[in-house]
Amino acid sequence: MRALSSLLLLAAAPLALAVKLEDFKTCDKAAFCRRGKAIAQRAGENPDWKSPYSVDPSSLAISSDQTSFTAAVKSSLYPEINFGLDVRVHKDGVVRVRMDEVNGKGKRYDEAASWALVAEPEISKDIRWTVGKKEVRATYGPKGNKVDVEIAFNPLVVTLSRNGRTEVALNSLGLMHMEHFRTKEEPQPTPEAVEGEESAQTVMEVPNPRSWFEGEEEDGYWEETWKSWTDSKPKGPQMLSMDISFPNHEHVYGIPQHATRLSLPTTSGEDSYYNEPYRLWNSDVFEYMADSTMSLYGSIPVMYAHSKESTVGIFNAIASDTFIDVAHPSAHSSYTHWISESGILDIFLLPGPKPADVFKQYTGLTGTQELPPHWSIAYHQCRWNYVSSDDVRTVQRRFDEENIPVDVFWLDIEYAEEHKYFIWDKKNFPDPVDMANDVSAVARKMVVIVDPHLKRVQSYPVYKEAQELDVLAKTKDGQSEYEGWCWSGSSAWVDFFNPASWEWWKGLFKTSQGSSDKCAWIESTTDVHIWNDMNEPAIFNGPEISMPRDNIHYGGWEHRDLHNLNGMLFSNQTSQAVRARTDPPMRPFVLTRSFFAGSQRFGAMWTGDNLGTWEHMAVGIKMVLSLNLAGFSFSGSDVGGFFGNPEPEMLVRWYHVGAFTPFFRAHAHIDTKRREPYLLDEPYKSIVRDILRLRYSMLPIWYTAFHESSVNGMPVVRPHFVVFPEDEAGFAIDDQYFVGSSGLLVKPVTEKGATEAQVYLADDQVYYDYFTSHAYRGAAKGRNVTVPAPLDRVPLLVRGGAVLPTRERPRRSSPLMRRDPFTLTVALDTAGAARGTLYLDDGESYGHAAGALVWREFTAARRGRATHVASADLAAAAAAHGQAPTANAGAGADVGVGTGAVVYDPQNAFADEVRAVRVEKLVVLGLERRPGTVTLGGAELEWEFVPGVASGAGKEGAAARLVVKNPVASIVGDWEIVIQ
Ligand SMILES: *[C@@H]1O[C@H](CO)[C@@H](O)[C@H](O)[C@H]1NC(C)=O
Ligand SMILES: *[C@@H]1O[C@H](CO)[C@@H](O)[C@H](O)[C@H]1NC(C)=O
Repeated sequence: MRALSSLLLLAAAPLALAVKLEDFKTCDKAAFCRRGKAIAQRAGENPDWKSPYSVDPSSLAISSDQTSFTAAVKSSLYPEINFGLDVRVHKDGVVRVRMDEVNGKGKRYDEAASWALVAEPEISKDIRWTVGKKEVRATYGPKGNKVDVEIAFNPLVVTLSRNGRTEVALNSLGLMHMEHFRTKEEPQPTPEAVEGEESAQTVMEVPNPRSWFEGEEEDGYWEETWKSWTDSKPKGPQMLSMDISFPNHEHVYGIPQHATRLSLPTTSGEDSYYNEPYRLWNSDVFEYMADSTMSLYGSIPVMYAHSKESTVGIFNAIASDTFIDVAHPSAHSSYTHWISESGILDIFLLPGPKPADVFKQYTGLTGTQELPPHWSIAYHQCRWNYVSSDDVRTVQRRFDEENIPVDVFWLDIEYAEEHKYFIWDKKNFPDPVDMANDVSAVARKMVVIVDPHLKRVQSYPVYKEAQELDVLAKTKDGQSEYEGWCWSGSSAWVDFFNPASWEWWKGLFKTSQGSSDKCAWIESTTDVHIWNDMNEPAIFNGPEISMPRDNIHYGGWEHRDLHNLNGMLFSNQTSQAVRARTDPPMRPFVLTRSFFAGSQRFGAMWTGDNLGTWEHMAVGIKMVLSLNLAGFSFSGSDVGGFFGNPEPEMLVRWYHVGAFTPFFRAHAHIDTKRREPYLLDEPYKSIVRDILRLRYSMLPIWYTAFHESSVNGMPVVRPHFVVFPEDEAGFAIDDQYFVGSSGLLVKPVTEKGATEAQVYLADDQVYYDYFTSHAYRGAAKGRNVTVPAPLDRVPLLVRGGAVLPTRERPRRSSPLMRRDPFTLTVALDTAGAARGTLYLDDGESYGHAAGALVWREFTAARRGRATHVASADLAAAAAAHGQAPTANAGAGADVGVGTGAVVYDPQNAFADEVRAVRVEKLVVLGLERRPGTVTLGGAELEWEFVPGVASGAGKEGAAARLVVKNPVASIVGDWEIVIQ
């Protein structure tokens, strides 16, 4: 977050804020990007364009175990330079393509993948490589679904096709370029002016044989000045350019984080929507725009291409500044051009062919979303700042007086004396442990901020220790401590690439004094979790508000090489530290602003400093959907907007958005008016209370979706194309989405004054209004229905075929719901059937990794004239199929828990603990007729029936509704209710 004092004094005026565009580079301000773009330009103007890169066939080698293919690559531009290509196919069909300069004058950064990948991928041994005269081919996959990877020699082009159809191609347009290391030529001493010199020079000028590709000039090879900063670029040019084409796919998604639509609009080509490429360079963009390709706080270089026939993806493991152009050369094809400042070529092709496959393939590489502590998916109340411990107590008291549920109170930077994190400002927070304990007394938690900048004063023990350990980031000389400005004034930054910082950082969070942890945080408790902000890193007086690119990190790498990884390493170390506070470890919660591919293993993210405007509310949804596709499901936007004072209507609508976002936090800038829900006038206050209760009632659904995501990489919130991959009309829809596999379809209202919403229904199915049970009908070709959307109601439908588990008793915080009974809502589909799942565990330990969990499946099916509603153990079935029902392999490699399959026993300790939890209500929507009897084990149950539209009747209107009271004694039991 960044300060903004003067502009917001006009509190009630509409927000008229604007990003300072000049603080950030566009492609034309970065020499490497200009050079990359110029190649594309020249290629476009030259019909005879051919890539200068080719495979030297005499160098081909296929490893004896058939696992990999290597070859030497040459560029006709520089025949004396050697490149090495390595292609291998992983067990799950993912193809990794790597290329680097061999025996060059320098070494390109090659560690991005080793940070991003959760483990070294297993290589497939079942690949058949065939060597032809012009190409090498690897074929695999079952008959009728054959994948073919072709590496053409001259020019070098890598193509992945399925059943003969090209899915993705690298360098098919010939824009690949890896600038090799070279020696800087010292400028020739200008000879004394002699007569006729000018003409003599002209005569001597040799035509540059490479200019057709590289241009005439050495544009910014060795030094680059931008505004007041000079980048010394001691290693010279190392740009990497690559075209990646999807010749049969119309839509591309991914490469978060950008404030833009989900289906990425074009940036180049005729009539492109934007005129600037998407950029990935983690940045603290003050007052960012709601529709832009500008880089924001985090980067995930994964892209998916989608068509009715297939989904395919690429993960480009690169951590340097990267610009990406997107174009649609024809109606059904997509072309992208990636230009990076440094790093090796390390691209993973994700073959699909369905959305669920690419998500599995991508999270197989970088890990799945870590299963969060249960309380962290409830509601978070934050503000810059709750100013004192008594302020925190008052806020808590006011929530309780108004019966508004909340789980977490947050403290921003002002808790820390002079912004020295870990050191309480004792004037305002004299009793931090008592404060945290007062919050814990109602089973709530606190989250406090710890930023990466350390105030440079010897009296700050954290800074002093970091200095003594020599783990601070260095300037370009590689020796001196780097100094910059941030909240704490003159500051230094820990270099988390240095392993020597890791154990030390852990020690800082210990809540009891240990012999080795001099700086342990004894004025904290294990109920206090952590927020990592400003970790791009944000540096107020640095180039583009960050670190100079020629700063030196551990291992001698320049900041430019690994910038986009910086935020992930910080949140990794913090989450390890929070986890290590107790023995046995408890699940940590760490919120990060900056992130990279793999950050989902370490906690949650939010979309940074948004504005309190309708546009930002709307784009926040699209950003969260994009992050979910990119593996980072635990994401959300500041409810209410960080800047500005939203009017009550906007705030209420924003609470609806938040309640249907994986990470749900209200937050506000220091200059905004207080806007905690209890401060609202009626009816707004009651509406927000009901929205929060709605979220709490649905926590079982959200937790089940998180669990599924942690197992198979499916997004927690899913846009239309994920659920209906063959429905073209839904491919660009990004304002309505599904929650996990639950069947809930939500379309939050993001327009002022709206009273109804158009909801798109993709299939010939019945959809029930969640609040009124009104039955709507979709159509095989898609259909829009109009759903009422008064201020107190979010358009929320349940797709026929779902079973929703909810907990309807209002509580002050979510842990207090742990033994509350369940309501099951069975929404029959047109065939009279339904299915749903419920996952439960203790919500905070790693007991689930040892099988302490409940994972149920609820089904409804028609048999004759009867409908049977049944409950069965799903975990046992999953374990029997060799699936680990809980093990988050993603987290496993980093945290040392939960790897491998779990031996699951339905009689586990957790299941025993919740055995007394009952189903207090069963609701069945869409029955054909009034039942004669509703029985469980032959005994009649107590029930009521309201006639209405049947699920299969094809009509719209209030659905038939059966309510069964207190049907079963245990949510954990196997049972069958017969409705006949
Ligand atoms: C996370 O930290 C552990 C050590 O604490 C380290 O082994 C691992 O490589 C780190 N991963 C990332 C992505 O930073
Ligand atoms: C649904 O509404 C959208 C937006 O108004 C429109 O583009 C689309 O064509 C409609 N779809 C159908 C099937 O009517």
